Amino acid sequence: MTGPAFHRPSEDDTGSRPRADAHLAAREILRRAAAAAARAPSIHNTQPWRFVLGPDWLELHIDRTRRLTVLDPRARQLITSCGCALLNMRVAIAAAGREAVVRRFPDPDRGAVVARVWVGDGPGSGELASLEPVIGERRTNRREYADEPVPDTLITRLRRIAREEQVQLTPVTSPEHRRDISELSAIAEFAEQSDPAYMGELARWTTDDPRRPDGVQAASVPYRGPGGFQHDPIPIRPFDQLGMGWLPAASNSGREQCLLLLSGSDDSPLTWLHTGEALERIWLELTAEAFWASPLTAAIEVAATRDELRRRLGRPGYPQLLLRVGRAPETVPTPRRPLADVLVEEVDSDE
Ligand SMILES: Cc1cc2nc3c(=O)[nH]c(=O)nc-3n(C[C@H](O)[C@H](O)[C@H](O)COP(=O)(O)O)c2cc1C
Repeated sequence: MTGPAFHRPSEDDTGSRPRADAHLAAREILRRAAAAAARAPSIHNTQPWRFVLGPDWLELHIDRTRRLTVLDPRARQLITSCGCALLNMRVAIAAAGREAVVRRFPDPDRGAVVARVWVGDGPGSGELASLEPVIGERRTNRREYADEPVPDTLITRLRRIAREEQVQLTPVTSPEHRRDISELSAIAEFAEQSDPAYMGELARWTTDDPRRPDGVQAASVPYRGPGGFQHDPIPIRPFDQLGMGWLPAASNSGREQCLLLLSGSDDSPLTWLHTGEALERIWLELTAEAFWASPLTAAIEVAATRDELRRRLGRPGYPQLLLRVGRAPETVPTPRRPLADVLVEEVDSDE
């Protein structure tokens, strides 16, 4: 397998630098890109990915064994999660001063390969590079948010970023649409929570073992307790079924908070991937501005409420993800699997 000719460093384009050094440098940048990708957010912290490092490329593969078969039968949120990982790769390559060259779904015969990435010769985007320091600071904060508006200038920037990532960002501001989201989220949560298979899957991906490297930690979820039901107008997912949640029970996830909706022009895997890239880029931008965020995806997971949401919002496109944004006290980071468990390095015969 080889990448496009213009990525392969040659003696000509590396000047006096020996070819092997340039080659190694690109490989080291890609190794760092994989480490950054492994920090990305993912649905239930499933980390449904595997990275394969070749001589001068890095591939992002789906790990189907980590798919949520009940919650996400079409793998929509799995691929959105992979999009988050891909964005982190692009940020890490930009932070090394180089341009990331990306082919999404590069090989129709290998559906598990979501993207192949090379280190290009051009300079990296300064805007992406500036996000690298906050990759490790970003997290899902499920606390109550302060009553402080997100500035319009920031929202305008995030809308532009979403467009650059091929999706649309819509701040949900009208009281009517906020009511719709609240109503449909409650219906969707009720439907999901009435399904023992959904609750079983959620319990399997929630843990109070701080050594477990995947799943959602009790330290990051509001206390709910056995049989408890959240009465928030826009409910937070009920991770805590055993009374292990460390965060205060009140998250006051309501209609007044800043709600951002990401939508795509269609409902294809490519759009799901772009949604993940947009989500992570927006999330990192918010982190850099000291805002927290937390996805609220129930109304978009249940087919009937998603269709109804689409109809009520009356906008073209397919809702992909809803994000609440605000200021709050910090929460602890959620662990990730070690890089050695997710990265396979192919031996380069040139080295
Ligand atoms: C596509 C996607 C959907 C998500 N949906 C939800 C959700 O509905 N509720 C929630 O509390 N967290 C949601 N999350 C956040 C994940 O649970 C979180 O990213 C993961 O546990 C890792 O924690 P961290 O974001 O703090 O690093 C979602 C994340 C992604 C990428």
